[in-house]
Amino acid sequence: MLRTQVRKTAQLSFKRLQASYSAPKLLLKDINPHVIEAKYAVRGKIPTRAEELKSKIQGDLNPANFDQIIFSNIGNPQQLGQKPITFYRKVLAILQDPAILSILKNKDCPEYIKKEYPPDAIERAERMLKDIGSSVGAYSSSQGIKGFRDTVADFITKRDGFKADPNDIFLTGGASAAVNYVLQILCNGPKTGVLIPIPQYPLYTATLALNNSNAVPYYLKESEGWSLDCDELNETIKDKLAEDIDVNCIVVINPGNPTGSILSKEKMIEIVKVAKEHGLVIVSDEVYQENIYHGEFISMRKIVKELQAEHPAEYDNIQLVSLHSTSKGVSGECGQRGGYMEILGFTEELRAVFVKLCSISLCSVVTGQALVDLMCKPPSAGEASYGLDHSERTEIFNALKERSTKLWETFNQLEGIECQKPQGAMYLFPRLFLSDNVISIAKAKGLQPDEFYCLELLENTGICTVPGSGFGQFPGTWHLRTTFLPSGTEWITRWENFHKEFMDKYK
Ligand SMILES: Cc1ncc(COP(=O)(O)O)c(C=O)c1O
Repeated sequence: MLRTQVRKTAQLSFKRLQASYSAPKLLLKDINPHVIEAKYAVRGKIPTRAEELKSKIQGDLNPANFDQIIFSNIGNPQQLGQKPITFYRKVLAILQDPAILSILKNKDCPEYIKKEYPPDAIERAERMLKDIGSSVGAYSSSQGIKGFRDTVADFITKRDGFKADPNDIFLTGGASAAVNYVLQILCNGPKTGVLIPIPQYPLYTATLALNNSNAVPYYLKESEGWSLDCDELNETIKDKLAEDIDVNCIVVINPGNPTGSILSKEKMIEIVKVAKEHGLVIVSDEVYQENIYHGEFISMRKIVKELQAEHPAEYDNIQLVSLHSTSKGVSGECGQRGGYMEILGFTEELRAVFVKLCSISLCSVVTGQALVDLMCKPPSAGEASYGLDHSERTEIFNALKERSTKLWETFNQLEGIECQKPQGAMYLFPRLFLSDNVISIAKAKGLQPDEFYCLELLENTGICTVPGSGFGQFPGTWHLRTTFLPSGTEWITRWENFHKEFMDKYK
């Protein structure tokens, strides 16, 4: 019975009986069905089991033959021991507690304290405090602090060689908030379609489900280094139109999560052409732009600007939203929720909608905004913090690159696993060739075959990964996603041994 009916009936009988009555609690059937429909595998069944195991193995009677869970299910670098960049934290400390400045400027300030705050950190904090105006504890303007947006615009201008405008930039609570804003704006009900790469980062399908619109998959071609086929894109859009679905947006994740691939310039040009012909908004998720191990990152914005410079009238209709974040790269500041989106080519009325939507959330976390400024303008050569900052960045980057190669090589030496060479991002997405035996055992357990593999891997080694089914995959293929963030190689050896035993056991 509907909740309203239950309550109406109860009220009638209450009046009749004059008895005390407590209304029932909300049940799943009473709430927004789109929230129930939304799925997010990165924190799904396997990570939930990992949390349970974690509390069990911490007890005196550890039932497992491992004493630590390796959380390689999520790109959360500092959870796995990555150190924060020192310069960021020094500046943030002053922003949080500007009284530090008076201590440092006191003539009696001990040398060992002065040494903690190099002059360029002090200078940067002073400039940022001026930009903030009052305190990091105050709401900022909804679009984000103007001085920080100037820094982002300079960063983009230098990166692409085309001038960026701070008014096009919105500082957001990580890239996730930006994805929410854009999709909320574009999702015009069940007849809207948004092209999503498969495999994809599940934030996209989840947000589309929440907004009652359709994820329209375009499959990335594994054997071609997870590239895409733009003829197929055109066909898909036309097919959807025949079904009365208005595809109004294409999401591109570059470098890719979970694939670790980088799009070629040629493919990016093709994508822009498709967007031009069909009037699609391009959402270019570029949160891994600093994580480039092999190849070159080119922003979608640069491609668009080049095409517009060559053919001004033809590409004038392009509408682009580019995303970046302080959570990835070598910053790894996931918990501080910093990010930005740059919007290009929208009409004034649409731009006003973006501003309104941000203003409903008041503003993003101000220290997160500050981190965006710091990420976009690290210390430069000649400044006091440059040496340490440069070596910290290089060390983090090299470790990621080295581990990605080691894990990739290990996978490709094993029977029943095939993995594309990692070019960027923080993940490997190897393909699992699972026997009919595995497939039927998994089915009997109500699991997908790759979910069964990941569960066995977790139970036997403590390594927590995410099955490919959580990201979408070509039907009949099985994968898993793992980060290469955990340090050391012992866990890789553990995985190797498990895999051999698993394949042997379920031949
Ligand atoms: C492709 C991609 N986009 C967006 C995000 C969201 O990151 P955040 O909200 O922390 O910036 C992630 C996080 O893993 C991601 O992988």
